[in-house]
Amino acid sequence: MKLAGVIGWPVAQSLSPSLHGHWLKEHGIDGLFAALAVRPEDFTRTVGGLGLAGFRGLSVTVPHKEAAFALCARRDGFAERAGAVNQLVFREDGSIEGLNTDVVGLVASLREAGVDVTGRPAVLLGAGGAARAARVALEEMGAGEVCQLNRTEGRAGAQSLDYWAGAARDAALVVNATSAGMKGAPSLTLDLAALPKHAVVCDIVYNPLETPLLKQARALGLATVDGLGMLMHQAVPAFDAFFGVRPQVTRALRHVLEEALAHG
Ligand code: ATR
Repeated sequence: MKLAGVIGWPVAQSLSPSLHGHWLKEHGIDGLFAALAVRPEDFTRTVGGLGLAGFRGLSVTVPHKEAAFALCARRDGFAERAGAVNQLVFREDGSIEGLNTDVVGLVASLREAGVDVTGRPAVLLGAGGAARAARVALEEMGAGEVCQLNRTEGRAGAQSLDYWAGAARDAALVVNATSAGMKGAPSLTLDLAALPKHAVVCDIVYNPLETPLLKQARALGLATVDGLGMLMHQAVPAFDAFFGVRPQVTRALRHVLEEALAHG
């Protein structure tokens, strides 16, 4: 049996088991994708043990992305550029390779939604690992000037959120890569009326699917992109690396995840 999983603390909220489970069934693969709740202080030795136990790889979620970056012998180009790793792949020679699939996940999600930011200004909210991956994604899409704002000024070179009104004025796209707006967390208090009417608002938070930020955008008639697209697309190269098949992002998959969110 082919083994992989998601490692986090906590991990019960993760949709990755539903997502990979759907593809395992769809492709008739004899495999298991487990949810592994592992404390930060146990992360490195647990990863080593899972490699020895024959796991093919791990998806990495909060709070382990920096520790994952540190323990890789090799990393792909996006992981190096973002300074963050969200997938660990155990190679046959015993080495661990780190990937950042959040970059291609966000690019694919925005493209699928018909977003074109080539040469156009964007606002990026946040300065953690997710925001750094989103910044690389915007570079990959050929965005013009990217104004990065964060609650804590100076982190990853970001400016204060107080610059919102000025940054928003010409923005073609806003990406929320903070964890604000997540179930149980306070949301950002930005006035989206400062944006031009053609602007698109994208949130990488997917629980709830319609975050307070997306709700405000929709009420103003702005186009929105929710976080499920990125979640599904970042898992495609991971599933391929773990199980050897490149899966498809389909309506049926989105439906499975919406159901899991509704009942979770
Ligand atoms: P990740 O690796 O998932 O990006 P992280 O490194 O903890 O996680 O980063 C979380 C991001 O969300 C940060 O930009 C954080 O802002 P700070 O740098 O000021 O901590 C942002 N964030 C979290 N909660 C927030 C809130 N309630 N309002 C605004 N920003 C918030």
